[in-house]
Amino acid sequence: MSEIVLEAVDLKKHFHVGGGLLRQRATVQAVDGVSLQVRRGETFAIVGESGCGKSTLARLLMRLIEPTSGSVRFDGRDVAGLTGRHLAGLRRDMQFVFQDPFSSLNPRMSVGRLVGEPLETHAPEMPADERRAKVAELLRTVGLRPEHADRYPHEFSGGQRQRIGIARALASGPRLLIGDEPVSALDVSVQAQVINLLHDLRDELGLTLVIIAHDLAVIRHMSDRVAVMYLGRIVESGPAEQVFAAPRHPYTMVLLSAIPEPYYSRATRRLPLEGETPSPANPPPGCRFHTRCPFARPDCASRVPELRSAGPDQLAACHYWEEIAAEGPVASPPPPPRPAPEVAQRFALYEAALAGAQVTRRAETREIQREER
Ligand SMILES: Nc1ncnc2c1ncn2[C@@H]1O[C@H](COP(=O)(O)OP(=O)(O)OP(=O)(O)O)[C@@H](O)[C@H]1O
Ligand SMILES: [Mg+2]
Repeated sequence: MSEIVLEAVDLKKHFHVGGGLLRQRATVQAVDGVSLQVRRGETFAIVGESGCGKSTLARLLMRLIEPTSGSVRFDGRDVAGLTGRHLAGLRRDMQFVFQDPFSSLNPRMSVGRLVGEPLETHAPEMPADERRAKVAELLRTVGLRPEHADRYPHEFSGGQRQRIGIARALASGPRLLIGDEPVSALDVSVQAQVINLLHDLRDELGLTLVIIAHDLAVIRHMSDRVAVMYLGRIVESGPAEQVFAAPRHPYTMVLLSAIPEPYYSRATRRLPLEGETPSPANPPPGCRFHTRCPFARPDCASRVPELRSAGPDQLAACHYWEEIAAEGPVASPPPPPRPAPEVAQRFALYEAALAGAQVTRRAETREIQREER
């Protein structure tokens, strides 16, 4: 379980923008020194506000863009050096699930061709009837019907289109799927179904999942481990349950305190997130979060915090996490504001959907155990 399948070391991507008439050049530090390790078979989530560099990180991990510096290793191999057959192998082993099931599928291709195309690319020698059978099997795997192969994307709902996108991603037989906000374009009730599908596929096909989301509800119900990003850097990482129960970085606390009552962990402490996110072209010195941190001390503006141990398998980039944790909950807190109804509803739906999936999985496990006996 703890075998490392994907690893990033001090990964940076700086975009040089501007020029033009005003000659105002800037360097956007989209990803600025990210190190992470994804273990085989787990679901690793990357969470953070819009613009913190999640999609750029995903593209770097898949080598869809080249890093400014740092390295990525997949299955022990540096992906930067891959060419020809080896690069094709990487493209087969690591697949992307896109955010928008409306624009990511070519409307002029039938579902059969959309799902069959990666097979043509990665297994050109496969006979046509075998390919058709494989497409039918892939459609069944994602909960669609084989006869859907003759239809076109516009004939499907958003959730069904995302299933087509997932079938297409599975066609090459990948070992790792990276989903960049794979459910955020879908209706809430459909989100839970697609999350459960990804969960089940991971278990059935032995996949490793990297899921990017800005929504903590999605993360909570999908991931084994989570990395929290702020302005191009990871500020906290660890087992998802632990990070939810005992967040150590103030930014994680702030994110968690924005979600409804049974779910946020520091039950009596509500932390507002004030101010705008600073620009990644001009990030604050020292700790990048100090301009918005409710616990900032004077030296946070000058000393850069490194990720350091903050619990079993947990890391946090905060000089003062021990002191903040020791402060504990505030003595007599004001009652927490009620969550917006749609937020509460979203959580309720995830809980229900996940409970259903767990019951099914547990029943299946019992079945297998009986057969083994
Ligand atoms: N090709 C590019 N050229 C210049 N700047 C870019 C480019 N791609 C991304 N950026 C900038 O890098 C930063 C990080 O962008 P990125 O898309 O990775 O964020 P994100 O976390 O995925 O955001 P969102 O949640 O909105 O999808 C942003 O400030 C963005 O404007
Ligand atoms: Mg993005």
